[in-house]
Amino acid sequence: MSGSEAAGTPGQDGEQRSDDQGVSAPSEQAEHPPEASLLQEHREEILEHAGPAEGVEDYSQYLLVADEVKAGYVPEVNILDGCTLTLREGEVVGIIGPNGAGKSTLIKTIFGLLPVRGGTITLRGGSIVNCSAHELVSNGVGYVPQSQNIFPSLTVEENLEMGVFLRPKVFQKRLAVVSELFPLLGERRKAKAGALSGGERQMVAMGRALMMEPSVLLLDEPTAGLSPIFQDEVFHRVREINATGVSVIMVEQNARRCLQVCDRGYVLDQGRNAYTGTGRELLDDPNVVELYLGTLAKAG
Ligand SMILES: Nc1ncnc2c1ncn2[C@@H]1O[C@H](COP(=O)(O)OP(=O)(O)OP(=O)(O)O)[C@@H](O)[C@H]1O
Ligand SMILES: [Mg+2]
Repeated sequence: MSGSEAAGTPGQDGEQRSDDQGVSAPSEQAEHPPEASLLQEHREEILEHAGPAEGVEDYSQYLLVADEVKAGYVPEVNILDGCTLTLREGEVVGIIGPNGAGKSTLIKTIFGLLPVRGGTITLRGGSIVNCSAHELVSNGVGYVPQSQNIFPSLTVEENLEMGVFLRPKVFQKRLAVVSELFPLLGERRKAKAGALSGGERQMVAMGRALMMEPSVLLLDEPTAGLSPIFQDEVFHRVREINATGVSVIMVEQNARRCLQVCDRGYVLDQGRNAYTGTGRELLDDPNVVELYLGTLAKAG
């Protein structure tokens, strides 16, 4: 059994691609308006001066730290080129950035799905480098991948059962807790997960990750492909989950909304930290707005 199967997280084998979300192919760049290439140049300049987001001195002060992490898929090509991220107990931390920036790669590396080539990752001060996803789940880390995050042919209840198969005895107790957070899952427990709407499936995926009572929840684009109403619902649920004592790292394509909801945010670009701050600071930073939140930013 692979680490990802052990964690009860279908479909995330480190091979997923996300080319279907409006990524600009290099050949399209020339067609962008001049403002877009100016933005591109501006971005390059910023990245040249981007160092680690913050100096982390004492790992034990944090729930989770990824410190100057390097990782990638193909030998000698580092997609993450020295990324730093910290999570304190009780926080919701957001990760935003352009398509292909390495956001999913960072989450997958934290969850042990990609080998760490440089830097370190710690959980409660102890290294989790080389820990399998299976071990991380047992140590209180939950992960909801960007896509293929449910078992469509299984019922809602069976999906939730998969989430807790490492501790089957707690199934009923956790089912009650998770159904309280997501009443819809209780109501539709006998339905096939594949028959649910996109928003409902996202609830199943989050519910399954919560079955093991994680202290850290890693969410990769939980609102992707959802209608605005469901997006709001998901952001609201993330806050509710956080209020139950779960610290959250959330990658989001809905960058503005994510920064409104999170305590602190990281802007990743080309596998490096571009900007870091509280959600409010990033929303108020004209460079962040211009480069990463505006319509032109999407063209870059
Ligand atoms: N399985 C893979 N094999 C090889 N390269 C990959 C793989 N998955 C992602 N990549 C590459 O790694 C880079 C970062 O991808 P990643 O999926 O981490 O970006 P992202 O910031 O999550 O983007 P998106 O907003 O599109 O989800 C991209 O250049 C991508 O093509
Ligand atoms: Mg991604």
